[in-house]
Amino acid sequence: MQKIGFIFDLDGVIVDTAKYHYLAWKKLANELGFEFTKEQNEMFKGVSRKRCLEILLDIGNITASQEQFDTWMVDKNVDYLAYIENMDESEVLPDVPRVLSYLKDNNIPIALGSASKNARPILEKVKLLSFFDSIVDGNNVTKAKPDPEVFLIAAENLGVQPSKCIVFEDAVAGIQAANSARMISIGIGDEKVLSEAQFNFNDFTEIDDDFLVKLLS
Ligand code: G6P
Ligand code: MG
Repeated sequence: MQKIGFIFDLDGVIVDTAKYHYLAWKKLANELGFEFTKEQNEMFKGVSRKRCLEILLDIGNITASQEQFDTWMVDKNVDYLAYIENMDESEVLPDVPRVLSYLKDNNIPIALGSASKNARPILEKVKLLSFFDSIVDGNNVTKAKPDPEVFLIAAENLGVQPSKCIVFEDAVAGIQAANSARMISIGIGDEKVLSEAQFNFNDFTEIDDDFLVKLLS
């Protein structure tokens, strides 16, 4: 049997950081004189920080010089880091530790595949860093999801064939990235939104051992 690997997205799969990203983007939008809604924040899931700022400025009809753009990127991240400063294990989404422990107990390699440049400190804060054999994040990629680069690097790091990798994702762009990498895509969240996923669950409480056994066989 060929080796199987699991790849987890971070934001919206392991921890609910979308609310903090939202607060930081909203603060910047308000400072620039316009509103930014929770509905608009949906477009930012799985999307790189740079691309998020481009979309935000489009929403506000703002043209920025390169210097302003770079300053706002930094400002947003400083605010985001302040919001997540006191994050701890209580913010891990339900049953994520159970699934990670199950995989670890069965010696299955686990990677993180995230667009975030803050992935490592977040995993440290929520005390899950030790579960991961490889961490591929926004610091290691040149192409953002839906490009499959992040997941292909993760597969290579784990020493697993892409077709033997299973990806958990909450963002449409992430599901598309997993599909183009020819991996098994599992959507975490609304089935209607993540309709391109091969399997879908609202959250990890719906993923039982039987399903994991099926994936491993
Ligand atoms: C994740 C989130 C996005 C965020 C991106 C970059 O994919 O879903 O909303 O923009 O990471 O995060 P960062 O922590 O580097 O700003
Ligand atoms: Mg996500």
